[in-house]
Amino acid sequence: MKKIIDMITDEVTAVFTENGYDAKYGKVTLSNRPDLCEYQCNGAMAAAKEYKCAPFMISDKIAEGLKGNKMFESAESVKPGFINLKLSPEFLAGYVSDMKEDSGRFGCEKAKNPKTIIVDYGGPNVAKPLHVGHLRSAIIGESVKRIGKFMGHNMIGDVHLGDWGLQMGLIIVELKERKPELVYFDENYTGEYPKEAPFTISELEDIYPTASGKSKEDKNFKAAALQATHELQQGRRGYQALLQHILNVSVTDLKRNYSNLNVSFELWKGESDAQPYVPDMVQKMKDEGYAYMSEGALVVDVKEDTDAKEIPPCIILKSDGASLYSTTDLATIVMRVKEYHPDAIIYLADARQSMHFTQVFRCARKTGLVGEDVELKHIGFGTMNGKDGKPFKTRDGGVMRLEYLLDEINEQMLKKITENQKEKESLDISEEEAKQTAKTVALAAVKYGDLSNQASKDYIFDMERFTSFEGNTGPYILYTIVRIKSILKKYESAGNTLPKGGIEAAHSVGEKNLMLALSGFNAMMEGAFDEKAPHKICAYIYELANAFNGFYHGTKILSEENAQIQQSYIGLLMLTKEVLETCIDILGFSAPDRM
Ligand code: ARG
Repeated sequence: MKKIIDMITDEVTAVFTENGYDAKYGKVTLSNRPDLCEYQCNGAMAAAKEYKCAPFMISDKIAEGLKGNKMFESAESVKPGFINLKLSPEFLAGYVSDMKEDSGRFGCEKAKNPKTIIVDYGGPNVAKPLHVGHLRSAIIGESVKRIGKFMGHNMIGDVHLGDWGLQMGLIIVELKERKPELVYFDENYTGEYPKEAPFTISELEDIYPTASGKSKEDKNFKAAALQATHELQQGRRGYQALLQHILNVSVTDLKRNYSNLNVSFELWKGESDAQPYVPDMVQKMKDEGYAYMSEGALVVDVKEDTDAKEIPPCIILKSDGASLYSTTDLATIVMRVKEYHPDAIIYLADARQSMHFTQVFRCARKTGLVGEDVELKHIGFGTMNGKDGKPFKTRDGGVMRLEYLLDEINEQMLKKITENQKEKESLDISEEEAKQTAKTVALAAVKYGDLSNQASKDYIFDMERFTSFEGNTGPYILYTIVRIKSILKKYESAGNTLPKGGIEAAHSVGEKNLMLALSGFNAMMEGAFDEKAPHKICAYIYELANAFNGFYHGTKILSEENAQIQQSYIGLLMLTKEVLETCIDILGFSAPDRM
């Protein structure tokens, strides 16, 4: 369906051209004075300069020309030269009815040329538990992926595990100290290795930090870990087998954690998968004269004349020939281009990594790893801070494990929901349902709290505020959906069937406002995709929920005596619920049946 704002612009533009003015002045925007009008056109102000006359002479003519147009209830010329527009309730109801008819899409068309887009998000490190630092990548990345899917693109989410480098050697050496008898350490062993991992996830989570601590104090330990890393990378059999065990145990645990966040990945590749591509890539960069030795390291210059600040060369190999974070990201680009031919690769990573991505992207382009037609984009997100404005920490100042944080919110939510139930004695929710509901609402609280901010900004993780049922919060949105569900259920249990027909022209201002809010869905979703901006969906559903609640408080729905009007109300509720549910699904959470 055409966007409503474009339909309006077309009508206004036609009158501009009929009167001999350039079409570009007919552009219409949402009103910034909703008390006066719904849409506005400021084109006469700009046109006055070109046509050398007073703006209101133009706006008067346009308003006059729009008289009798069925799209508008009113088109007013207001001094000095604004054109204030109100839609006719019939036209608006027709648009909203078409949205309802367009099941599941609500007037939002899929992309005509679907693209293949890889979203690189998650970025957890093997053998280390997820911590709050990984939360934003997972939440925003999942939503960006779902927005693209809704728009009809082929979206591929890749977790891009941190499974390469010293951390693996550290684990191997620490494990050797604890269990030297294990066959993996016997260099003369040629048989098959056991299928069962020689550690559990909790052991693994203890092994890594212990080893990491030791390596900081004990030079010999660190040297042994470096040696083990080297041997692993050279393909030592026993270590390769251990790596597989570490990966399996770790990935199983990561999958469980991500699924609690309603986050899932199409690909479970890691940094290690890109390593086979490194030698050829480096050779090519050398052969083609891009890479040169500088201070012992192999580098590629990536600075450009227009740079306002210094962009240092991209380091391809360290002086000892080892690969770095940038090497791995470059080789991963080679792998992705070869295997998936993506039109775009989007990276979700902390904004503080922006220099790294600038260097990697420039290097990839300059050396021809990707063509000009492949978009490379880093969505850098800000820090999640505690109430003190400093990066979020546990009470004793440590890094907060994601699992513990979620447990804490679930618990708070359960308390809240149980109290709510006590107040409303009529509802008897079982303990099981209450727990499930608490989880659902808690996830909405966390995700909405994050996604409603522009990704690049820091935000304060305020559990009190995020879990509130009022205000711009996830639970408020869910509460609105639950309210609609309950009205629809009551309507049905009174022996009615849900109407299939269209929606009548609004009977009140509140109802019209709800329709106006609904009608922006397709434009909003396109904008959210173009800018990869989930916060636009949040802003839309907050406004929609407010408009719905305004309508609800001013209207008797279930006690409406005119059956035809009531059916139209119910139809409007159905559409509102479906649009809200679609939006929260794209944000990555869901609503319970009651709360
Ligand atoms: N593992 C990295 C970290 O924990 C994040 C990876 C981001 N993705 C990328 N392709 N570099 O900081």
